[in-house]
Amino acid sequence: MDKNLKKALRYLKKYIWLSILTIFMSAIVSASNAAPVWFIQLLIDKVLKTKDYKTLYIIAFSMLFVSIIKGFSMYIKEYYSSYISNSIIYDVRKDMFSKLQDLSMKFYKKTELGELVAKFINDAEKFQTAINKMFQAIPKVLTILILLGKVFLIDWKLAIVALCIMPLLSTIMKKFSKKLKNRGKTIQVEIGSITSYLTEIISGMFIVKAFASEEYEINRFKEKNTANLNAAIRSTRVKARVTPIVDFFNTILVIGIMIYGGVQVINDNITSGELFAFLTALGLIYEPLRSLVSTYNDVLTSKASIDRVMEILDYEVDIKESEHPILDFNSKGDVKLKDVCFKYEADGKEILKNINIEAKEGEIIALVGQSGSGKTTLVNLIPRFYDVDSGEVLVDGINIKDIAKKSLRENIAIVPQDTFLFSGTIYDNICYGTSGKTTKEIENAAKMANAFEFIKELPNGFNTEVGERGVLLSGGQKQRISIARALLKNPKILILDEATSALDTESEKLVQEALDKLMNNRTTFVIAHRLSTIFHADKIIVMKNGEVIEMGKHIELIQKDGAYKKLYDTQFK
Ligand SMILES: Nc1ncnc2c1ncn2[C@@H]1O[C@H](COP(=O)(O)OP(=O)(O)OP(=O)(O)O)[C@@H](O)[C@H]1O
Ligand SMILES: [Mg+2]
Repeated sequence: MDKNLKKALRYLKKYIWLSILTIFMSAIVSASNAAPVWFIQLLIDKVLKTKDYKTLYIIAFSMLFVSIIKGFSMYIKEYYSSYISNSIIYDVRKDMFSKLQDLSMKFYKKTELGELVAKFINDAEKFQTAINKMFQAIPKVLTILILLGKVFLIDWKLAIVALCIMPLLSTIMKKFSKKLKNRGKTIQVEIGSITSYLTEIISGMFIVKAFASEEYEINRFKEKNTANLNAAIRSTRVKARVTPIVDFFNTILVIGIMIYGGVQVINDNITSGELFAFLTALGLIYEPLRSLVSTYNDVLTSKASIDRVMEILDYEVDIKESEHPILDFNSKGDVKLKDVCFKYEADGKEILKNINIEAKEGEIIALVGQSGSGKTTLVNLIPRFYDVDSGEVLVDGINIKDIAKKSLRENIAIVPQDTFLFSGTIYDNICYGTSGKTTKEIENAAKMANAFEFIKELPNGFNTEVGERGVLLSGGQKQRISIARALLKNPKILILDEATSALDTESEKLVQEALDKLMNNRTTFVIAHRLSTIFHADKIIVMKNGEVIEMGKHIELIQKDGAYKKLYDTQFK
């Protein structure tokens, strides 16, 4: 069996008993579906021929009884098959989400947001449909088996003739399924592409408008939308062909049986009741068989989705935890990069070359250098967003690979260049990633971050919703919340990517003050864009093309009159 299908079925294990119950109920439904064949035979051979009233009433009563039992079993079967398939998809989504939390930034840098969302929503749903359809298929298969048994009992030769048509049907089925499977893949890819495009455009709407590109985007969307339409139409065309063809062969089958069976009855080989039972049975086989064909197709189409879901679940976590990681790590704040080399892709270009940097407890290390020289990459190695290719990153002399990721990151706070606030209150946003802090502590953090004043002015103070559903904050205000978040975390190591965007002088002053307080008593790596930061730094590290080319204090480097001096003259003066 296919590897991914096997994995998908593993999700069923948890629900094995419910599945057995569902299958049992399905068997009852199947038997009830096949029952009319016996009733017809009895009706013709017994009731009509011998004018037997009693049997007539028994048949009528039995039909009623069977119908009630069938209704009851059907309800249970439907309920549980839906319960199981929905629960499985719940489990799958839960696993996918956990997996997403485990995956490294490498994964997120190269995965399109929309594509990921599509996998979560569309593909997971298709997965569910496939499971549900498989449950629907069980009673159908059983009905077919029961009816086939009956047909053989009546006249095995006739049954064989009828069955010869079946392989023909299955050949047609196979031919179409293969096509459908490919079509299914195309459709999912197209939908994924539309979703990615949509999320991208919506997040980038500002730029679209700023560059008056609405018309252009409408056309781009049209292209993708059309591709999706075409894929869907092609798939429908294949699907639509199946039913008429199956229908045609079925009619031929009935005609053949009518002639052969009629002759048998005339020659008294079988009773007329049996012939009717036979025809009824074949008629009853037809419907489940036809829907089995479409179920089979649906499952095949979903196979593409299952593959896509499994692709995420199977994605190898590349930042691995060591076997016995240090769980409760409390750093003093010594950070050392020793002979560190790094590249993003195994076959890509070397982004960091032989980096040797040491930061003692409480020192401020300022990183400067041209755009693309590797500053962000370097600081991202400290919280282990990426693993070094060679050399090592040591915190308090311990290789960070030996420290549990969670524990390591609890010792580090990051104030990124662009602040990201989650939807929720200001309060929630300051608390993000820390727990058990009192209101007093949170307010203190806000005060130190120079955020308290403006928060108090907001309609609901700390309980004001921010972002999409609430108050929109200015760049400087967001930065101060981000600083408050770091202050509350109170880590030994701080990573600061100074915003390049210029704030107005007043806001700039407030942010700067907050940052100064934040850097106090912490080992800080700061990607510096502000003069004041550079003056304060214990060590300035000048980077160029992934290498440290100069290192020292501001005065020393100015006196040296090298790369730093040039950079200082052009960028900072
Ligand atoms: N996820 C990534 N995958 C592949 N290459 C990357 C990735 N991120 C950055 N790079 C490359 O690594 C190099 C260093 O990038 P980095 O972001 O570290 O520069 P930087 O010094 O922070 O620049 P800036 O001052 O513009 O922020 C660049 O050449 C960039 O193209
Ligand atoms: Mg950068």
